[in-house]
Amino acid sequence: MPDTMPSDLLEHARRAKGFMPEDEGDLLYRVARERLPHGPALEVGTYCGKSGIYLGAAAREVTAAGTPATVFTVDHHRGSEENQAGWEHHDTTVVDQEFGLMDTLGQFRKNIARAGLEDHVVAIVGQSTTVAAHWRTPLSLLFIDGGHGEQPARDDFLGWPRWVDAGGYLAIHDVFPDPAEGGRPPYELIYLPALASGQFTEIDAVGSMRILQRTSGVAGDPVR
Ligand SMILES: C[S@@+](CC[C@H](N)C(=O)[O-])C[C@H]1O[C@@H](n2cnc3c(N)ncnc32)[C@H](O)[C@@H]1O
Repeated sequence: MPDTMPSDLLEHARRAKGFMPEDEGDLLYRVARERLPHGPALEVGTYCGKSGIYLGAAAREVTAAGTPATVFTVDHHRGSEENQAGWEHHDTTVVDQEFGLMDTLGQFRKNIARAGLEDHVVAIVGQSTTVAAHWRTPLSLLFIDGGHGEQPARDDFLGWPRWVDAGGYLAIHDVFPDPAEGGRPPYELIYLPALASGQFTEIDAVGSMRILQRTSGVAGDPVR
């Protein structure tokens, strides 16, 4: 198996709108390929599916207990604060004219279908807190790239890392230890508390992507 994203899917990832630099996406692909044989992965923060293509590329290459590997991806598809009109990352091409709201679901669907990954990447459309409240499945890999404000980051930390299985990975995007480089919540409210819990240990990093491994506790145990 190659160590980097297969070239056909890399082209799809490059074409998709989104916020995943290639070197960080490549790390995501590699850790997903390692973990997916052990169970499903889940991403918080789908947007138009760019990171989903890196995760789906890994799923295409492995099987889990004899069945195709699966990546769940959660998003309400209404955009984060920074995607709204007047903010830095607003894109008028993903606004639903009827409601005057962001809607990235259609773009996601097209991107995943074009990449041939519909059997591997499964969209869950809704609030991260609602989905987390009902989630019970151990995860081989959890990737958090949802709302970057304080409340969404707190909510995602509370709701999701507990479902990472023993030995599983927690990937966090937009972790900036230096405030001059980016926003604080993913660093202060997800990355640092995960390490402080004593249940996660950092094993890899590229750019603003951090990979932690669950080194104590099992899926379902609270992480605090
Ligand atoms: C930074 S973008 C994700 C980028 C994506 N991973 C990529 O590779 O391009 C964050 C996404 O999180 C979603 N989001 C923010 N807060 C959310 C919440 N509370 N529940 C569900 N989705 C949320 C937004 O709609 C947005 O699409």
